[in-house]
Amino acid sequence: MRLDKLISETGTASRRDAARLIKSGLVLVDGMPARSGSDKVDPQTQQIIVSGTRIEYKTHRYLMMNKPAGVVSSTDDHRDKTAIELLGPPYDSLGLFPAGRLDKDAEGLLLLTDDGAWAHRVISPSKHVWKTYDVRVDGLLDHADVDAFAAGMTLKSGVSFKPAGLEILSSGAQSLARVKLREGKYHQIKRMFAARGKTVVYLRRVAVGALRLDDDLPPGGYRELTQQEADAVFVGSAEHLTT
Ligand code: URA
Repeated sequence: MRLDKLISETGTASRRDAARLIKSGLVLVDGMPARSGSDKVDPQTQQIIVSGTRIEYKTHRYLMMNKPAGVVSSTDDHRDKTAIELLGPPYDSLGLFPAGRLDKDAEGLLLLTDDGAWAHRVISPSKHVWKTYDVRVDGLLDHADVDAFAAGMTLKSGVSFKPAGLEILSSGAQSLARVKLREGKYHQIKRMFAARGKTVVYLRRVAVGALRLDDDLPPGGYRELTQQEADAVFVGSAEHLTT
């Protein structure tokens, strides 16, 4: 890849600043000063040093975002703002996409990556990655709701949902609950509650596997995950239990 592209993608400097650093002799490729931003380099095999610091090139990126309500989790949308449009440099030019969807009116943990295989493992129902949500619904919740979630549901339309966890945190005119799903069908939680005669008025994803959304990440905020955190997503999943 181009040297200036590598330097900007790793967040070391903008492409323009990279050109300046190269001109000033501050960029070394395998110990030799680079000549131009258009020089082709292989970050996997070559040592690249910018202003005395070695560039660490990651083949893939994994981000957590605190998706705000009103933002869609698809990559393209002509009408609504997308989660991808909330990203600044260098993440806005890395081809990141969401690993799993959250409804426009839902908030919370949205995973973004450029690693298709990892995203597939997160999304695929057969992998049984647990997703945890905080939910507020109109109306009372009781043990019959917990049992119905635990048994799994088949709707009149024939759509079926696997057994899910429902923990009632408070029950009243509006009730609070924590829901755990290991699949992510369209509007799943809203449809499961609707089948119980209740309307979801607030939905927030708080965890995927053992990875919890940072409490101090503001709406629209995001940060990179460590490799350990990217792996934590699979704690409790089918592959984690069999390996
Ligand atoms: N269930 C829903 O209804 N919506 C979401 O965004 C996620 C789970």
